[in-house]
Amino acid sequence: MFAGRNCNHIEFRPCQGDEINLLRELFVAAVMELTGGEYSLEQRRAWVSSAADKVEFCARMEAQQPFVAMLQDRIAGYADLQPDGLIDHFYVAPWAKGQRVASGMLQHIEKLAHSQGMTTIHALVSLTAEPFFLRKNFVVVERRIATRAGVTLPHALLQKDLTLKSTRESLPG
Ligand SMILES: CC(C)(COP(=O)(O)OP(=O)(O)OC[C@H]1O[C@@H](n2cnc3c(N)ncnc32)[C@H](O)[C@@H]1OP(=O)(O)O)[C@@H](O)C(=O)NCCC(=O)NCCS
Repeated sequence: MFAGRNCNHIEFRPCQGDEINLLRELFVAAVMELTGGEYSLEQRRAWVSSAADKVEFCARMEAQQPFVAMLQDRIAGYADLQPDGLIDHFYVAPWAKGQRVASGMLQHIEKLAHSQGMTTIHALVSLTAEPFFLRKNFVVVERRIATRAGVTLPHALLQKDLTLKSTRESLPG
């Protein structure tokens, strides 16, 4: 994982161990505050229940090794790229929404993927984030329904082919 800087002064660096609780708070805030248009309160509560166990969440983050996006010296978002090309977590803090943090995180992920020789990346994407990923040339592979705490959550598996000409040209040099 390498650090980098984009034109919006968003810096990327690996998450430090003592920051994992901040990621957990960011995850809960992003889901509860940004996805209300597509998911009911019951669905959002079920979604964030996956982070209710602090120890389990910390263990998962330590295994997945996310990176953080820093804007104005604060963690504005976090994401990861797993060895099989899966983006598991991809969340932007409500206060940073609309400031191209997600765009920067995806650009960073694509640089990482290219450096590791990956030709595709994929993600299980919320209905809220789906329009963002479609704008970034992902395609829907499959629509799915997850069950969390007995509540159903529709989402989709999206994939991006990194070998397409338009994708390669959009990467900074
Ligand atoms: C969806 C999300 C990732 C977008 O983050 P963001 O930092 O606000 O996005 P950006 O500022 O980089 O937006 C880039 C472009 O996508 C568009 N966009 C962003 N979110 C969008 C949405 N929900 N619907 C439609 N377009 C959207 C922006 O308008 C912008 O368009 P432009 O390039 O024409 O200017 C963020 O709002 C979020 O975390 N949402 C809630 C949690 C979630 O669903 N996470 C994903 C789990 S898979």
